[in-house]
Amino acid sequence: MPARNSIGVIGIGYVGLVTSACFAELGHNVVCMDIDADKISSLEQSQVPIYEPGLEELVRKNQERMLFTTSLEKVFDRCEIVFIAVDTPPTFTGDADLSRVFAVMSSLPGLVDNHHVLVMKSTVPVGTGNKISAELARQEAGNIDYVSNPEFLREGSAIHDFMNPDRIVIGSRDPQAGRKVAMLYDKLKAPILETNVPTAEMIKYASNAFLATKISFINEIANVCEEVGADVSVVAEGMGYDQRIGRHFLNAGIGFGGSCFPKDVAALKQIAGNSGYHFQLLTAVIEVNELQKRRVVNKLKKHLGNLSDKTIALLGLAFKPNTSDLREASSIVLASRLLGDGAYVKAYDPVAIPYAAKAVRGILLCDDILSAVSGSDAVVLVTEWEEFEHLPLEKMKECMRHHLIIDGRNFLDPEEVRAAGFAYEGIGRI
Ligand SMILES: NC(=O)c1ccc[n+]([C@@H]2O[C@H](COP(=O)([O-])OP(=O)(O)OC[C@H]3O[C@@H](n4cnc5c(N)ncnc54)[C@H](O)[C@@H]3O)[C@@H](O)[C@H]2O)c1
Repeated sequence: MPARNSIGVIGIGYVGLVTSACFAELGHNVVCMDIDADKISSLEQSQVPIYEPGLEELVRKNQERMLFTTSLEKVFDRCEIVFIAVDTPPTFTGDADLSRVFAVMSSLPGLVDNHHVLVMKSTVPVGTGNKISAELARQEAGNIDYVSNPEFLREGSAIHDFMNPDRIVIGSRDPQAGRKVAMLYDKLKAPILETNVPTAEMIKYASNAFLATKISFINEIANVCEEVGADVSVVAEGMGYDQRIGRHFLNAGIGFGGSCFPKDVAALKQIAGNSGYHFQLLTAVIEVNELQKRRVVNKLKKHLGNLSDKTIALLGLAFKPNTSDLREASSIVLASRLLGDGAYVKAYDPVAIPYAAKAVRGILLCDDILSAVSGSDAVVLVTEWEEFEHLPLEKMKECMRHHLIIDGRNFLDPEEVRAAGFAYEGIGRI
């Protein structure tokens, strides 16, 4: 048997590339495989096709330890431990689409032997690991070890999160296989939680669903604050001092988006439903999140009346700052609703514009803040990019038709905005 002392990673997207570069940084050799040949050839030149702070530098720094390929054979030839990090997007029912995971599985016969350990980094529904183990057994590859090692990194701070995890979760049937995977993280100082496969799978979903619940909860509090004249920012601060609650994820706004929360919450609801349990709380979390975007439209209508033929400028398109990712971004939902109401929509984002043409149709993409706001009736701040913290309010006032700013992330200083002569509305703020 050849020495298989590299780590394999299949699926070199946000998670796969960060995982690969960070393992390389920890001193491992990594074979990085993707079916997207264009992506692999860019990465061979150390050109990273996504925006993630520090990632291109890390890939360049570790290029000698990272081999990029489209060949699965190379992966299984050179690696004993192989991570799967392919995407698991939502289907129209809300279930996770596992077709990419199973596409990898169906390529395994002839490539794997009982020395390999398959490690699932992708977020997969509870029970998937057991199904895969059964499928491997059917393919007479049942001796391959299967480990669940869900990933908790956040886009925008992915390298920091990978290198400084709050915990590393390892689910396995055979503790020896689990320990082999745990050893790869030896240099990181983090608690390692070893458990069985379904429990590890559930930890990932339960964590994301809890965080999404926290966001929808504070958004509902914000909506009540608006009715009773309280300020949600201060309410959240006051709540956050309580250590049982904590400060994180208590920022009211126009709701969560991104490639994880919406799909993972929907998938957990489906997992529960498919097993006969109605997860009522998650139904509300999803509905609150959808309604939260509609409230922005209502705020615009309150000031501008009918939106037909009005021009609305969106500042920020990415689902959060420091990423180019537009998957399930609030901006896209909002833009579609505004277009549906007959408004013209212009937008600027410091990073996501080159990626936006494919994701959103019918909106005018602009190169800077002033081109976006010029001639518009209102500005909606959708993503809290640092560049938007101090807007060029005087210049904006000169070129806008009406002077209205809806701060969808409670990011601006209301006094500063009002002092510059704008009407200001945040979310649950006085
Ligand atoms: N993005 C995040 O912040 C994040 C965080 C934690 C967990 N996750 C989970 O990690 C998984 C990956 O997410 P992502 O955001 O990195 O996805 P992504 O879409 O950025 O990347 C997936 C990659 O897999 C490749 N791929 C698809 N099918 C393949 C196949 N058969 N063989 C080889 N490569 C294949 C695609 O070409 C793509 O490059 C998902 O399950 C997601 O839920 C994502």
